[in-house]
Amino acid sequence: MAKIVIIGSGIAGLFAALRLADAKHTVTVITKQRPIDSSTNWAQGGIAAILDKTDGAGLESHIHDTLASGDGLCNERIVRKVIEESGERIHDLLNIGVRFETDENGGFHYAKEGGHSERRILHAKDATGKEIERALNDAASSHPNIILKPNTLAMDLIQREHQNPEKGIAGVWCLDQERNSVFTEPADILMLATGGVGQLWSQTTNPPVATGDGLAMAYRAGAAVKDMAFIQFHPTALAVQSDRPFLITEAVRGEGGVILDEEGLRSWQSDVETTNGENTPLLPHAYSFTLNHSPLGSMATRDIVARAIDQRLKETGGNHVYLVTSHMNQEHLEDHFPTIQKRLNRHGLKLGRDPLPVSPAAHYIVGGLAVDEYGRPHSRETGNPLPSLYAIGEVACTGMHGANRLASNSLLEAVVYAARAANHIIDSEPESNDTPLPEWRADGLEVLTEHVSVANDREALTNTMSREVGIVRRFNRLHRAKRRLQLLSKEVDFIWRSALPSREIVELRNLILVGQLVTEDSLGRKENRGLHFNTDLIGHEGQ
Ligand code: FAD
Ligand code: SIN
Repeated sequence: MAKIVIIGSGIAGLFAALRLADAKHTVTVITKQRPIDSSTNWAQGGIAAILDKTDGAGLESHIHDTLASGDGLCNERIVRKVIEESGERIHDLLNIGVRFETDENGGFHYAKEGGHSERRILHAKDATGKEIERALNDAASSHPNIILKPNTLAMDLIQREHQNPEKGIAGVWCLDQERNSVFTEPADILMLATGGVGQLWSQTTNPPVATGDGLAMAYRAGAAVKDMAFIQFHPTALAVQSDRPFLITEAVRGEGGVILDEEGLRSWQSDVETTNGENTPLLPHAYSFTLNHSPLGSMATRDIVARAIDQRLKETGGNHVYLVTSHMNQEHLEDHFPTIQKRLNRHGLKLGRDPLPVSPAAHYIVGGLAVDEYGRPHSRETGNPLPSLYAIGEVACTGMHGANRLASNSLLEAVVYAARAANHIIDSEPESNDTPLPEWRADGLEVLTEHVSVANDREALTNTMSREVGIVRRFNRLHRAKRRLQLLSKEVDFIWRSALPSREIVELRNLILVGQLVTEDSLGRKENRGLHFNTDLIGHEGQ
């Protein structure tokens, strides 16, 4: 049996691990912190799916919304396959022990988010990811064929033949963060399930582990990337100074929440006072500036809503708009969104009562390692699949999301591709590889004592990305970012070559490379599509 190494313990990594382990493969899961530490664990809204394969209208409607959100760049064949497989994967998750919310009749309760024309999102209140991680972790930690290695940082992939990507991958160098030592982990098959890159921006909904490591490692090993410019900013992250940009799920808008600016809020409140006593309550929807950008207003797709907020903040000089829920039933809100209410309690805010200050934050990378339908990354040089390497989940770009991901389609894509990749490995009966692997060479490297310069470089990086490669871009700013990132890259490369590896250096090196790939792709785009918007390209809209 082949030895399979998976890097990452989010939904993609753990789901694939379980499927492979059930097929009698030995699987080692390497993960940076605790196994639960992942974007998956923080997912709120849910997982979009059509449970019944024979529900033709349901499938077509989900496919239609996904394609519309993707602004003409989705691969329709992939979209169809993923959505058609969604029901089976949900049944797998249920069998693993995931408990989704049910309604009073015992059926599933479905939520709705921006860009969805119907309620089709399975969820566990507002902590769907936590429930998925709980179930997957429970199953993986008790599986006899799975070895979990927490606090282990994958640093670089080892090629079977040095500087020859076409020969495939033979393992990975890892930093054991408890012993502070580097070791070599051999692998017959290596799967990257390392998640996203949100830590490139100073305001992000992502957890600290989201530093683009898998993307950078595979790129260095010769893999191709795709659509890196498409960075999704979530419109409604909590904007209070004493807290991180905690996500306020789009499902709050799905239940009726509305985004208003200061002026809209004032006019609505004053009109409510004037009409006080009338039978029909005055709703805030008509007062939203988002209606100037889409007839769907606050429920338009994320690219549109985030851009509308960004523009409004630039016009007003403010640092937040409001998510308004005071026209909604407080009990219903508290019952559906207990995690959010718990977080709001820290700031004396209440759902159903207070306008919540929100602003956009980097949330999801649509682009990533260009993979085929089994999750195999392509070689940059030949376009062929790289032998013995797979990439699943947010690190990969499958073509499902086009230029803008539809809400709650990410957990779905991750679980579908985890199954596809695992099945492909099982069916192809991989052989063991006994090439002797090189040891990590630490000769002449010294312990880094000057941490401050690494911290400064990281701050310079996130500032540059936030200012120059944000929601709205311009060519001169992108060029400026490119120059700055080149300097940072040289600086950090020097540290990397002289210091013993540490998490801070490994992550910074990876983040800079991913930042360069995002900037380069943005510079190369000749039209505005979905999540990529360059004011110099106004008039060159896609489609
Ligand atoms: P992750 O879940 O991020 O897991 C990545 C794993 O890789 C982690 O275990 C990490 O520690 C590990 N790792 C990374 N680098 C290394 C390394 N060098 N060495 C070792 N281990 C490493 N999507 C939806 O569809 N629905 C939602 O409701 C939803 N809500 C979201 C809410 C928030 C706040 C966020 C941040 C995202 C949300 N998303 C949602 C997006 C979705 O959660 C992610 O895209 C998805 O969970 C990614 O899964 P993954 O398995 O690819 O990666
Ligand atoms: C949310 O709950 O708003 C996030 C959903 C997603 O990113 O798909």
